[in-house]
Amino acid sequence: MSTAKKSYKKITTKSLTEMKNNGEKIAMLTAYDYTMAKIVDNAGIDIILVGDSASNVMAGYETTLPITLDHMIYHASSVVRATERSLVVVDLPFGSYQGDSKGALDSAVRIMKESGGHSVKLEGGSEIAESISRILTAGIPVMGHLGLTPQSIYKFGTFTVRAKEEEEAKKLLSDAKLLEELGCFALVLEKIPAKLAKQVAESISIPVIGIGAGNDVDGQVLVTHDMLGMTHEFNPRFLRRYLDLFTDMTGAFESYISDVKSRDFPNENEQY
Ligand code: KIV
Repeated sequence: MSTAKKSYKKITTKSLTEMKNNGEKIAMLTAYDYTMAKIVDNAGIDIILVGDSASNVMAGYETTLPITLDHMIYHASSVVRATERSLVVVDLPFGSYQGDSKGALDSAVRIMKESGGHSVKLEGGSEIAESISRILTAGIPVMGHLGLTPQSIYKFGTFTVRAKEEEEAKKLLSDAKLLEELGCFALVLEKIPAKLAKQVAESISIPVIGIGAGNDVDGQVLVTHDMLGMTHEFNPRFLRRYLDLFTDMTGAFESYISDVKSRDFPNENEQY
């Protein structure tokens, strides 16, 4: 199986459609700061998501609800300064687009103007169709997000798999079609049955990026801090850890503390 079919100097929304059509999988990861974005971009990731998961990962909140538009702009502008190749997608935070379509457009315009991000992501289907349309008419690319949409966690009441029942699966399928028709350039599907995700990916022409949605979609996304093993309390089945940085970093910090306490650091070569 090839890993890269065409080399792209810079990823655009058009490149992503091309990748889907060529059967090349799309790799997406989160970043919220300059240094991480630099490493992720340099590794060749296709999409960097400045996710509102920053609310959990960077700020320590229990949910994604508290993060504000100003916070998202701060994180996104740091990421944009580091990025050369990847397409940067920025989450519109909770409360910044659900009210009315004018408010949604104002939020999206602020993200684009003040952070330099390349596109925005919104959670939801038919309920926010008007907002998505209005943002799109301003020339701002929109990524959709269906399934387990964390901004609605208090409605769901639990982080378990969504759309297992027929009625919710049918709504998800029709929302995916609607997002395609409205003109979204891609769609994230979070924590839904793999069979349903496959059905969605096959039924729409825009790329479908999964997280906990199986392998029969057009790409995958993970939260970088999770896949690096920095956040060790979070253990969903879909998460593959590529490093155990929590343990490695703890070891490094312990060694430093011990070297300082024992007067081993700094040595003669580490001073002026
Ligand atoms: O905020 C985020 O990190 C996300 C991904 C989990 C898709 O929306």
